[in-house]
Order: sequence, then structure tokens, then C-alpha cells
Amino acid sequence: MRTVDVIARKRAGEELSAAEIDSLVSGYARGEVPDYQMSAWLMAACLRGLTGAETAALTSAIVSSGRVIDWTGRLSNVVDKHSSGGVGDKTSLVVVPMVAALGVPVAKMSGRGLGFTGGTLDKLESIPGLRVRLSIAEMQTQVERIGLAIVAQSAELAPADGKLYALRDATATVDYLPLIASSIMGKKIAGGAQGIVLDVKAGDGAFMTEVENARALAGCMLELGRRAGRRVRAVVSSMESPLGYAVGNSLEVAEALATLRGQGPADLLELCLVLGSQMLVLAGATRDEEEARRSLKGALASGAALGKLRQLVAAQGGQTAVVDDPGLLPRSPVVHTVAAPRGGFVARLSARAVAETVRHLGGGRARKEDDIDRSVGVVLLAKPDAAVEKGQPLCVVHAADLPAAEGATSSLLAAFDIAPEPPRIGPLVIDQIG
Ligand code: URA
Repeated sequence: MRTVDVIARKRAGEELSAAEIDSLVSGYARGEVPDYQMSAWLMAACLRGLTGAETAALTSAIVSSGRVIDWTGRLSNVVDKHSSGGVGDKTSLVVVPMVAALGVPVAKMSGRGLGFTGGTLDKLESIPGLRVRLSIAEMQTQVERIGLAIVAQSAELAPADGKLYALRDATATVDYLPLIASSIMGKKIAGGAQGIVLDVKAGDGAFMTEVENARALAGCMLELGRRAGRRVRAVVSSMESPLGYAVGNSLEVAEALATLRGQGPADLLELCLVLGSQMLVLAGATRDEEEARRSLKGALASGAALGKLRQLVAAQGGQTAVVDDPGLLPRSPVVHTVAAPRGGFVARLSARAVAETVRHLGGGRARKEDDIDRSVGVVLLAKPDAAVEKGQPLCVVHAADLPAAEGATSSLLAAFDIAPEPPRIGPLVIDQIG
């Protein structure tokens, strides 16, 4: 079949067969279908839609573009987690070592920053020397030896997703439910984990701004996971304002380390406890979520979770000194404080605007081949509900130079809505499904 005909059929709104989707995706993964044809198809899919059957076929095509890890005979109850993408979302850096510290193996396949959202791989690579490109054999040996690994897709594992992910980021085809669901579940199924916990974000800083759409995304991914014979649970969590206080790669690693040391922000810790509990329950390691929360808090308090992260950093070639001294992470030359233009309550803080500011500072990509500056970002000092006085610091910008810091200041001021009355704030965890 000719690729141009598959594109034309999708552009006309027709339903493609599984064979057509597989030929397109496998051809793209092999480098036989060029970026411009895949981009055209992605845009047609976003505009004309993909059916449930097409989404399932796309997921299978992503899975079979590489190998599927088989843990049989090596480890049982391997778990994985994935977020649909948010702002300041460094939960994986905290929850993966917490769960692994309790003896449950975690084999995590992560992504890079996508659209305005951050990516775990970009964050982890702030640690000098750390490698995220591991072969399947290396990853399996590492998980068997120390109980955890966080890796990227490779030529071996869901390679089609690696290429599609970068292409979608540069062609405005990220925020379409079937593409997100197949991208996430394609990777997760290929990673071979028997238990998968999905953190589906809803709100201004998420691809799904409406809770109902986030629930639909969760439902679609649960279905794809079950069809593949995996145990899957989903948490729908709020992404109205950034999670924690730090946004930007190195800054987020520093905040994750503080959280593992018991000094992290309350919202980040709470989400990690919820996701970690689901992972432990799925693995059958604890009777219920209450016992799981107690165990997770114990792993933090004893330092076992921080110790697991240190082991991961060492195993993946990173500088372990960073774990004890986050001051060794890349640092920006310019640090600039943004002050409140008036007094009142922070009524709203747009996660999206903060993320776009960090992207403009160089912390995210505009084109798929762009390098990023891991040192830049924003540390918030006030989040919704905080009372602030005129002139009080609202946040701190970390930038490469003064003009960049000044540009960020005006967009950050627009991101804060300061009102005379305190706001009504919705729950962080909106729903738990499955
Ligand atoms: N995370 C992914 O892995 N893929 C997407 O498409 C969005 C978030």
C-alpha cells in the first residue's frame, strides 16, 4: 500500500485497517516513511479523528516496532508508572525510588519534554554523566540487581514512539487523546511491567484541560492495558497550577531530592503517596492503600528511598555526589526575583504560562532537534491561596542572561492572578479509577 493513499484516506475521515496503520508506523520506525508524510498523517488523524479500533491498532504498531520485555523467570510483579504530562511534575524521581525501596521492582520507561510539559529524561540528565539510553539487557540486569531503572525508548523498545513523540512535539499534534493514549501505552506495554499506574493530569497545565477529557483518556488507556493483559490503575490529578514549587530540569531534580529527604512540598509528597500506594497494591506488596502509605512514609523517613535513587544514579553512570549536594547540578548565571505588583491573595497561577516561560528560557524545545538548557527555570514562592503583600517575592527566575530573565518576568507576572479574596481550590487528586 502507498503511504500517500493511507494519508489521503485519513484526510477523508475514513477508518484505516490495522494493516494500514501497522505498515505506516513500522515504515516510519524503519526510516522508510519520511517525517513529512508522517506529519501529514498525524495532522489528518488529529483533525479527522481516530476510532477506538484505530487507537488499538496504533498502540499495537508502536509496541511491535521493537521488542517487548519479558520478565518471566527473572522478576515477578514488576511495576511501572507514567504521567500524561504536566508542569513541575517530578513525581517519578520520588515515587520510583520510594516503591523500589520497599522491594517492588520498578522498570520505568520515560519520555522527554513534550509540548510545554517537562519530561523525566530531560530532568534526570541534569545529573552529570547520567545515561538514560540503556539496552534491554542492561535495563533488566539493573532492575534485577538494584530494583529500579528509568530509561528512554531505544531502537529496541517502542522505537516508533520515540520518533513519533519528537515529531508530534514539533508539529502541533501532541494534545489529541488517541495519540497520547497510544504513545503512553505503547511504551508501557513494551516495557513489560505487569502492573501499570497512570497519572492522568487535568487542568491548565495538562494536555487535557477538562476533567471529563482526562477521565476519557484514563478510560482509553485502561482498556488498552487490559487488552494487553496488564493490571492497570489510573489517578486523575489536578494540574491547574504547577506541582511543587520548582519548574525547570535541574531545579526539579533538586526539589525531588529535597522530597526524598522529607523536606519537599506537601502537594508533591501527597501525589507520590497516592501513586506509590497504587503501585504497591497492584504489585500485591501491601494489603491496602493505608498500609502502603505507611510503608512509603517509612521508606522516606529511614532514608531507604533516597538510597535507592543514589543506587540508580550510580548504576546509570551519574555523579552520585549530586544526590547529597544538589548544588552540583547545573546552575544559571542569572537569578532574578519577581515581586508582587499588589497585595491580596494568589487566586490563580497558570501552570501553562509558567511552563511556556520556562520553555522560552531554554528549558524546553521548540523543534525536535533543539538542545535544552537544564539549568534554567522558575522557583515559585507563592501558589494559589497564599496571601501576598505588594513587593513581596512571588517567584525566582533562573536564566542564561538578563534579557531572558526580564522577558520571563513579564510573562510570569501575567501568570499570577492576585485578587482581594482567597480562591476556592479544587482537590489535588480528583479521581482514582480501576
Ligand atoms: N506522555 C507520553 O509518553 N506520550 C504522550 O503523548 C503524552 C505524554
